[in-house]
Amino acid sequence: MTISIIAVLDTNNAIGKNNKLLCYLPADLKHFKKLTTGHTIVMGRKTYESLPNGALPNRKNVVLTKNTAFKCKGCDVVNSVEEVLDICREDENVFIIGGAQIYKLFIEKADRLYLTHVHNEFKADTYFPDYETNKWSAAKIEDFEPDGKNKFSYSFAKYVRKRNECNL
Ligand SMILES: NC(=O)c1ccc[n+]([C@@H]2O[C@H](COP(=O)([O-])OP(=O)(O)OC[C@H]3O[C@@H](n4cnc5c(N)ncnc54)[C@H](OP(=O)(O)O)[C@@H]3O)[C@@H](O)[C@H]2O)c1
Repeated sequence: MTISIIAVLDTNNAIGKNNKLLCYLPADLKHFKKLTTGHTIVMGRKTYESLPNGALPNRKNVVLTKNTAFKCKGCDVVNSVEEVLDICREDENVFIIGGAQIYKLFIEKADRLYLTHVHNEFKADTYFPDYETNKWSAAKIEDFEPDGKNKFSYSFAKYVRKRNECNL
């Protein structure tokens, strides 16, 4: 199982306000769809409730909540990190799609970070957790200027966790 975190961040590492994303960036939605379709996505109950049409199609949707009575159509509902790992044990690619609380639970377990850096500052109330940048190496960075559809400049970045080299 490869665990990837996927998030869109502003220049202050902010990710949301009032249980919504900070900006509408269609190129990022497309990027997100391309990476996650056919795979497993794991989200917190609040992020699930922020989705306009509920579970995302063509993906296994896993929702984390402490509420054992919580139900949502088209999703597997789980109550702990251990349950997430158990329900995903056969899955090749697992994407942690937020929000802040769920990123924090998985940041130490993640193998990859797919971060979209939006080069703008927004008013926000939710932030990506601190992570040790020296533990990650940039595998790919693509920069884009604003265009007719996307109001802000942004970069798609892929970071992979550095592994300790052993020459024995
Ligand atoms: N920019 C991005 O890429 C991005 C991506 C996703 C979300 N967001 C934004 O992030 C914000 C939401 O983030 P958030 O941190 O407030 O909420 P969240 O992480 O989406 O969900 C939090 C909920 O997850 C459940 N939870 C947390 N820890 C748990 C644990 N150890 N075991 C079981 N369940 C647990 C709890 O649900 P219960 O209260 O039901 O127990 C908790 O209230 C929104 O503004 C959203 O738009 C941004």
